[in-house]
Amino acid sequence: MPFCEGFLWGGAVAAHQLEGGWNEGGKGVSIADVMTVGGYGKPRRITDGVVAGENYPNHEAIDFYHRYKDDVKLFADMGFKAFRTSIAWTRIFPNGDETEPNEEGLKFYDDLFDELLKYNIEPVITLSHFEMPYNLVTKYGAWRNRKLIDFFVRYAEVCFKRYKDKVKYWMTFNEINNQASIDSPFMGFVNSGIIFKDEPNPWQSLFQAAHYELVASAKAVKIGHAVNPDFKIGCMIGYEPTYPLTCRPEDMVLAMKDMHKRHFFSDVHCRGHYPSYATTEWERRNLDLDITEDDLKILQEGTVDYLAFSYYKTNIVTTDKSKIDKDNKDEFSTGVDNPYLKKTDWGWAIDPKGIRYTLDILSERYELPLMIVENGIGLHETRENEQSDGMIHDDKRIAYFQAHIEQMKKAVEEDGVDLWGYMPWGCIDLVSAGTGEMEKRYGFIYVDKDNQGKGTLNRKPKKSFYWYKKVIASNGEDL
Ligand code: BG6
Repeated sequence: MPFCEGFLWGGAVAAHQLEGGWNEGGKGVSIADVMTVGGYGKPRRITDGVVAGENYPNHEAIDFYHRYKDDVKLFADMGFKAFRTSIAWTRIFPNGDETEPNEEGLKFYDDLFDELLKYNIEPVITLSHFEMPYNLVTKYGAWRNRKLIDFFVRYAEVCFKRYKDKVKYWMTFNEINNQASIDSPFMGFVNSGIIFKDEPNPWQSLFQAAHYELVASAKAVKIGHAVNPDFKIGCMIGYEPTYPLTCRPEDMVLAMKDMHKRHFFSDVHCRGHYPSYATTEWERRNLDLDITEDDLKILQEGTVDYLAFSYYKTNIVTTDKSKIDKDNKDEFSTGVDNPYLKKTDWGWAIDPKGIRYTLDILSERYELPLMIVENGIGLHETRENEQSDGMIHDDKRIAYFQAHIEQMKKAVEEDGVDLWGYMPWGCIDLVSAGTGEMEKRYGFIYVDKDNQGKGTLNRKPKKSFYWYKKVIASNGEDL
């Protein structure tokens, strides 16, 4: 049997993408609350605070805040062993800079975790998933400011202490490495509350913010271990292997350099020091970073217990500029397609073998346990796709997961990767982070709501719900 006993089969979401209740229970405004709905080829806008008349999809999302008991029951029906979600920082510290937490917010997660534990579902918790308090952006300049370290650490400590007997698996920052794509306003804003391309020196701002976040993460890891030595505290990166378009050595070097941008963050989280390719880049760019001796010590002391990552696709780079499609509608794309792969409706290359490649690369590089905390395919689905049995037949999703799980098996069985769990993304339809759409659906469970925010919010299992239930029951044998 390739997957270990107690393998964490489950699903993943993030607070801002499903909870709703954006101004209930004492919750403050988060950066996700000021992002409008966008679409494929139409970036989400970041507004100056919450503006009347705008469509903010995260405000209501799928109303998990009020419906979580029914949803958890559905997850339990599927046989989930684990459920990955995040704590909305703004439910605990509405403005981010308070000295005392908001009891009503803490209570909400107590109830949610109790509900999960009632069904023996292990909560797997991200502390910061694209939802920092908006006040920290406007009042302190977001992660440009060293003070953010203390605000984050205070928040982390409160969560660790409060949930020390309910939550064992933690992650600090979601996909912390996305911001290395400094040209994307979205990536910088969701990671750090900063639009790097508008900064006087974008690279200076990026590496400074990243440093403060890495120190904050390391401090949190240290404190977490002191609160409960049984905690497993990981980092989380978005992993998209970069392939060279051709075997020209120049393309190969370009691909390697591109991967430095992905590895930089996990290198520090896992190894506790800055890699030389980064420190030499800082010198080359003449950056003047605020990094103290104490900081470097903390980085060393706060390395993670495991590495969690998301995997959706692979990317291509080329030194041949004529091959780059500048009109590519996906704002996160390199503009080059892999001729061997098919793409989703949102232009993401479907590459199951890439997940094995990812598992192997990360396992070899860090020799740490790994956890896949996001993987999945966004599809257009409406109730009109229902078959006579009244179910949406999402065969494409099933095929996607079958092919990816096959490759995970090979990584474990043939290559000896230590894999702890698999939590497909958006196990229930929710608001897309990148586009703000409801209609970019990932779920095993359909939610009746469209991009305009209309719908009953009713839930309905899709065909993949029953398929995944069988996969979990057989520990990945019956695909
Ligand atoms: C990851 C994020 O980038 O990918 C999630 O951690 C996000 O928050 C997921 O939803 C899928 O991306 P998208 O843009 O399709 O929602």
